[in-house]
Amino acid sequence: MKHQGGDRSNRSANRPFQDVLRAYRTRRDVLRGGLASAAAAFFASTPALAPADSKPRGKARPGLMDFEPLPVAGGGGRTPRIAPEYRMQVLIPWGEPINPSSGPAFAWPPRPDAQAQQVGIGHDGMWFFPFEGSSERGLLVLNHEYGTNDHILGRAPESLDDVRVSQHAHGITVVELVKRDGRWGHVDSRYARRIHVNTPIEFSGPAAGSPLLLNRAGNAPAGTLNNCANGHTPWGTYLTCEENVHFYFGGDGFEPDARQARYGFSARWTSFHGWSRFDPRFDLTNADYANETNRFGWIVEIDPFAPEAKPVKRTALGRFRHEGCAIAVGEDDRIVGYMGDDEGFEYLYKFVSEKSWTAMRAEGRSPLDHGRLYAAKFNDDGSGEWLELTIENPLLAEEFESQAEVLMFARRAADIVGATPMDRPEWTTVGPDEHVYCSLTNNARRSEPDAANPTAPNRHGHIIRWRDERRHIGTRFEWEIFLIAEETHGTEESFSSPDGLWADPDGRLFIQTDGNGQADGLNDQMLVADTESGEVKRLFEGVPGCEVTGIAVTPDRRTMFINVQHPGNGNPAQTSFPNEFDGITIPRDATIAISRTDGGIVGS
Ligand code: FEO
Ligand code: CA
Ligand code: CA
Repeated sequence: MKHQGGDRSNRSANRPFQDVLRAYRTRRDVLRGGLASAAAAFFASTPALAPADSKPRGKARPGLMDFEPLPVAGGGGRTPRIAPEYRMQVLIPWGEPINPSSGPAFAWPPRPDAQAQQVGIGHDGMWFFPFEGSSERGLLVLNHEYGTNDHILGRAPESLDDVRVSQHAHGITVVELVKRDGRWGHVDSRYARRIHVNTPIEFSGPAAGSPLLLNRAGNAPAGTLNNCANGHTPWGTYLTCEENVHFYFGGDGFEPDARQARYGFSARWTSFHGWSRFDPRFDLTNADYANETNRFGWIVEIDPFAPEAKPVKRTALGRFRHEGCAIAVGEDDRIVGYMGDDEGFEYLYKFVSEKSWTAMRAEGRSPLDHGRLYAAKFNDDGSGEWLELTIENPLLAEEFESQAEVLMFARRAADIVGATPMDRPEWTTVGPDEHVYCSLTNNARRSEPDAANPTAPNRHGHIIRWRDERRHIGTRFEWEIFLIAEETHGTEESFSSPDGLWADPDGRLFIQTDGNGQADGLNDQMLVADTESGEVKRLFEGVPGCEVTGIAVTPDRRTMFINVQHPGNGNPAQTSFPNEFDGITIPRDATIAISRTDGGIVGS
């Protein structure tokens, strides 16, 4: 989602990433001058792309992304654009019944009972789970990050019923998609499901039994919130990531303690969604619900093929403003999750399972319940370290009583061990060559320019990549900058504020943007980059006021699903998407199915 730039929850003295970047670039310029080293050899295998003094990026590998890109000219219009060799189709806008023939039809403003059976708002991360490998039938599991009251109700909530509408518009949708006669559609399904803010959930992992998850009110754990990006596991489950959960809590006059402040809980957001005025769970001043805040900010596992199963919050992966969770299978078949915490000056994290995921599942244990959590430290010389967040570290034992507390207040633990504050870490994705990419979307509070990137504040963001030792499970890595968005401005590659990322198995990097205005007159967009040459081509452009987010593909990669989130920010004066496609009346978040007209792989 779009953020106010003035937030800063991290008051630690950890060295900001831009200092490290500046030092690293100075070092790299020296290396280019002819010095040889092991690090130089490492980076020789990957392009040096970023600085203003660099040469233009090369051309993509032949056959990789030969499509004719969308030009900058003609951008910024009221309707989406797609590259000439492609077609697109709108699916499941906000408010469609999840079972199309039996569910309640879209009506505005929505009612709480109907909204609980309709597609939510704020379409974001998602994944496609095929039936038996099919590329024409599967379950789409879709996050609903947020919708404002202005968009959902047209006003602030005036009753608990109004709050329920908003709560039911948040969470997750599962729908069954089928492709018939070349067109996708959703169908009635026994798997169709809404998970929202009042759906029963359970906790698992080291913090599950913590008294810090219990309230005096005795209310059972329920709901997931501000579901941003996602991940998916080799055993067929979906991971949804809870990001800006502090926006939903409020209470006039509330004074947070240090731990609550570190997570942004404050009276400041009381009117933003307005839930605390009618639902005591979200009232920070209600002592009966004093620990409700601790129940949010986790990664949640959902089995889309088990519609009766409760979503499970996996506490071993830590609590922070989770953007996404890119999963890799590392050495020893361990499960690795790479995770960003999206706020200015926050950290990158990694989880590594205790041992092989197949062995753990054979023992009846979840690989996401037992393992180690780390935060990243980026050194000036292009190396990096994963710093473990464990109660066995005496520095952490000084402040925390248990591993449960370390995980629950992972931000604070990462402050203490000395992780590197980054420029808003958003999505992560794992490339076929073991490089992991992270979009650092922007950081309005960056105060110092550096010679190679004279941007202060950092309005346009960049993409970093690294490679860990021991195929994802080691504690040391080598890193470099892959792209700096500002350096594309004024060219046909122009983009700002990278956010959604997905690396495909051929080495394409799909880049989605969420900027408060792209450069060069463009709306938010999706581009494709060659991870070897760094060439960037524009595949899709959204509509005014929206962000483009969420990527899912069919197994054959002939269809890609993406989302247009908050089109026009709900204002029909900006756009009436998607009615300019399908005869619908007001701007609504929607999924778009993209394919090549010749049936080729999307991105080629
Ligand atoms: Fe939900 Fe950081 O975007
Ligand atoms: Ca964003
Ligand atoms: Ca995002």
